[in-house]
Amino acid sequence: MRAVNRVTTLLGLKQAPSAQALESLAQHAARLETTLDQLIDRAVGGDDEALGVVADSLTVCETYFLRHPEDFATVQEHAERRAASGTPVLRVWSLGCATGEEAWSLAGVLAPISPTVHVVGSDINPRSLARARFGRYGRGSVRSHHELTWLAQADDGWQVAALLRGNVSFSVANAAARPAVPTRLGAAPDVIFCRNLLLYLEPAVAEAAVAHLAGLVAEQGLLVLGVLEGPHGELPGFERVNFPFSNAWVRRTTAPVRVRAITLPPVTRPVDPREVVKRARRLANEGRLAEALASLDPASTDPSVLYLRGCVLLERAEPMVAEATFRQVLSLDRQHVLARLQLLLAAVGRRDVAAIELERAGLEAALGQAPDDAKLDDEGVTAGYVRRLVQGL
Ligand SMILES: C[S@@+](CC[C@H](N)C(=O)[O-])C[C@H]1O[C@@H](n2cnc3c(N)ncnc32)[C@H](O)[C@@H]1O
Repeated sequence: MRAVNRVTTLLGLKQAPSAQALESLAQHAARLETTLDQLIDRAVGGDDEALGVVADSLTVCETYFLRHPEDFATVQEHAERRAASGTPVLRVWSLGCATGEEAWSLAGVLAPISPTVHVVGSDINPRSLARARFGRYGRGSVRSHHELTWLAQADDGWQVAALLRGNVSFSVANAAARPAVPTRLGAAPDVIFCRNLLLYLEPAVAEAAVAHLAGLVAEQGLLVLGVLEGPHGELPGFERVNFPFSNAWVRRTTAPVRVRAITLPPVTRPVDPREVVKRARRLANEGRLAEALASLDPASTDPSVLYLRGCVLLERAEPMVAEATFRQVLSLDRQHVLARLQLLLAAVGRRDVAAIELERAGLEAALGQAPDDAKLDDEGVTAGYVRRLVQGL
């Protein structure tokens, strides 16, 4: 098998790495005085250094503290209910935790409710996990307007408070390869978080991963997935909770979880996403919103496809999922001005002063020095138009 296929299979990726990513990987290989093929072989064999280099080049590791706060509210409510019934949440697994902000956030939210809780953060990238263990973060990791009492200000950023350190550990795991429960947890997790990872995987691999994780979570345990990351239907034996704010499921039975045979929508692999966007926009303009939505793959990694999907969802009065979709756009392109504008408008709609400030700052940074006549989309929206709009808010 060619190196590129081996690495796509290892990570379970739905898209083969771009020529640019492979080029950057080849340069890394050269710096390590090896070839691309040898580097990939080492990564597939589980060599930490090679795996880190490969994952750094081929995966998206965007994350920050309390990302999607509604999911943390869901886990908090769940833990409070469990504590009240005398069965506290003790074991938590954050799979695909990147540089650890998600795992530390879970520990920070849960420790006051269940002081002996232990959180394991896992990722395929050992380099990210080394940073996670270090527990020191820059400003980009703190974007929430919630008070993060478990972070202490350090010289040039933030440091995780010492009192949380015993509650969190990190270990490598591959979501695409039926990972076992981390040994540090000792028993079935009461909570599994796996967000913003499955959308990058081959649909069949992602579907198998959901079924696998559903089978691992403890009875009365909580499984939290990213908003658009399946399951594409019911999850037998589970009850959906806090819908539509979270994609969260509580296991109500110990019977083996069998995910019903799911007919996945055919994966459209357009040669040119611009054609997809053009067609979907035409459908939306004709008022055929359901068809427009169906033509925009929620697992696309093209920001323009996802951005339009968010707009169609707004048209269909589905603001929560739309907002999640705009955030998904930002995980692919942090400087996407129009997605940032939509998030600002959503914050204005909620009259959420702190979020308005945060989103406005993000939008201004994304606009940067762009000239007023710079076009932001095919419909002729310009940077100047966005600036005037924002001034009037
Ligand atoms: C976009 S980040 C999401 C981080 C965090 N869960 C969040 O929502 O903020 C995706 C992470 O998934 C990891 N990842 C990608 N493929 C993986 C796999 N097959 N197994 C485990 N982690 C994987 C990447 O290394 C990256 O750190």
